[in-house]
Amino acid sequence: MAMRTCNISARSLFLFNIITVLVLVTYLVDLEKKIANAKVSSQHNSDLLNTQVNGALLPSSFPSQNPTLFYNRVPKTGSTSFVGLAYDLCSRNKFKVLHVNVSKNAHTMSLNDQLRFARNLSSWDLKQPSFYHGQIAYLDFTKFGSTAPIFINLIRQPLDRMVSYYYFLRYGDDFRPHLIRRKQGNKTSFDDCVKEGQTECDPNNLWLQVPFFCGHHADCWVPGSSWAFEQAKNNLIKNYLLVGVTEQMEEFVAVLEATLPIFFKGSLKLYRQGSKSHLRKTNLKIPPKAETIERFTNSTVWQLENEFYEFALRQFEFVKSRTLNPDLSGKGQQFFYEKIRPK
Ligand SMILES: *[C@@H]1O[C@H](CO)[C@@H](O)[C@H](O)[C@H]1NC(C)=O
Ligand SMILES: *[C@@H]1O[C@H](CO)[C@@H](O)[C@H](O)[C@H]1NC(C)=O
Ligand SMILES: *[C@@H]1O[C@H](CO)[C@@H](O)[C@H](O)[C@H]1NC(C)=O
Ligand SMILES: *[C@@H]1O[C@H](CO)[C@@H](O)[C@H](O)[C@H]1NC(C)=O
Repeated sequence: MAMRTCNISARSLFLFNIITVLVLVTYLVDLEKKIANAKVSSQHNSDLLNTQVNGALLPSSFPSQNPTLFYNRVPKTGSTSFVGLAYDLCSRNKFKVLHVNVSKNAHTMSLNDQLRFARNLSSWDLKQPSFYHGQIAYLDFTKFGSTAPIFINLIRQPLDRMVSYYYFLRYGDDFRPHLIRRKQGNKTSFDDCVKEGQTECDPNNLWLQVPFFCGHHADCWVPGSSWAFEQAKNNLIKNYLLVGVTEQMEEFVAVLEATLPIFFKGSLKLYRQGSKSHLRKTNLKIPPKAETIERFTNSTVWQLENEFYEFALRQFEFVKSRTLNPDLSGKGQQFFYEKIRPK
C-alpha cells in the first residue's frame, strides 16, 4: 500500500511535471509573439516619425516659448496702417498687441529705462505671443543680458517721408480728420520753406531712418555720419527678421503672413479688403519742385539716407522673390531632412 501510494505519487509528480512544462511552453510562445508584435509596432512608429520629419511642415508655432515681435516703427512710414492690421488680427490669431509710449516722443531712452525695458520685454510672460510697437530706435537687448525679440520694420523713400510729414503737420490726414495738428493753418509750401532755408525743412532733418536702425549710440544721431550708416546696415541684416518698404506694404504683409502665420494668418486678405480703412492719407501734399529736390540730393545726409533706403529695398526684393515665388510651390516648405542615421 505504501508502495502503491508511493507509485501513485511518483506518477502524479510525473504528470504534474508534464503539465508544468506545457504551461511554460505556451507562456513562452505567447511572450515571443508579444515581443514580435511590439517590434513591428515600434518599427511602424519610427517609420511614421521618419515620414513626418522627411515630408511634413515643421510646426509654425514656437512650442517652447511664445514669440515676441517688436516693431520699432519709424514715424510717417505708414506704420499706423500696418499696426491697424495687428489690432484687427490679435483676437482672431490670439496674440497681444502693446504700444510702448515713450514720454515726449523721444526716440531714445535713458540708460536705466533701456535696461528696464529690455528686462521687462524679454521676461514678461503674457501667456500669448506678443506684438510690441513703439517709435524707439533699435535697442541691443543682448547688451543687457536679455533675449532679443524678433525685430521688424518698414521704411520709406526719405524725401517722400519728410514732405509727407511736413504737410501732415499742416493739414492732418483722413485717419483723424478733426484733430488740430501742430502747424494747422500754416500755408507755407515745402518749396518755399526750403527756399527760405527754414530749419523745419533742413536736409539734416532727413536723418531719421539711419539713426533709427543704428540705435542708442551718440554717433548714430550725428547727421551724415558714415559710421552710423554702416551700423544701420549691419543691424538691418543681422538683427531684423524683415524690413519692408512703405511703397510695397502689401508685399510686406504677404511675406510676414508666409513667415509668421502665428501672428499674420489672414492678414493679406484683410489688408486687401480694407486697404481704404488701413491706408492713411495726408489731406494735402504738393509734390516738391525739381529745384527743391536738387537741394536735397546734393546733401550728404540725403545721399546716405537714400543709399540706406536702396539697400533695404534690395534686401526686401531678394527676400520677397525667394518667399513669394509661385514657381517654388508658393508658401510650402522647400527643404526636408533625409539620410537620417543611425536608424
Ligand atoms: C502717450 O501718452 C501720453 C500721456 O498719456 C499721451 O498724451 C499721448 O497721446 C500718448 N502717445 C500716443 C502716441 O498715443
Ligand atoms: C513688465 O511691466 C509691466 C507693466 O509695468 C508689469 O505689469 C509686469 O509685471 C512687468 N513684467 C516683468 C516680468 O517684469
Ligand atoms: C509756417 O511754416 C514755415 C516753415 O516752417 C515757417 O517758416 C513760417 O514762419 C510758418 N508761418 C507761420 C505763420 O507760423
Ligand atoms: C548741387 O550741386 C551742383 C554741383 O555741385 C551745383 O552746381 C548746384 O548748384 C547744386 N544745387 C543746389 C540746389 O544746391
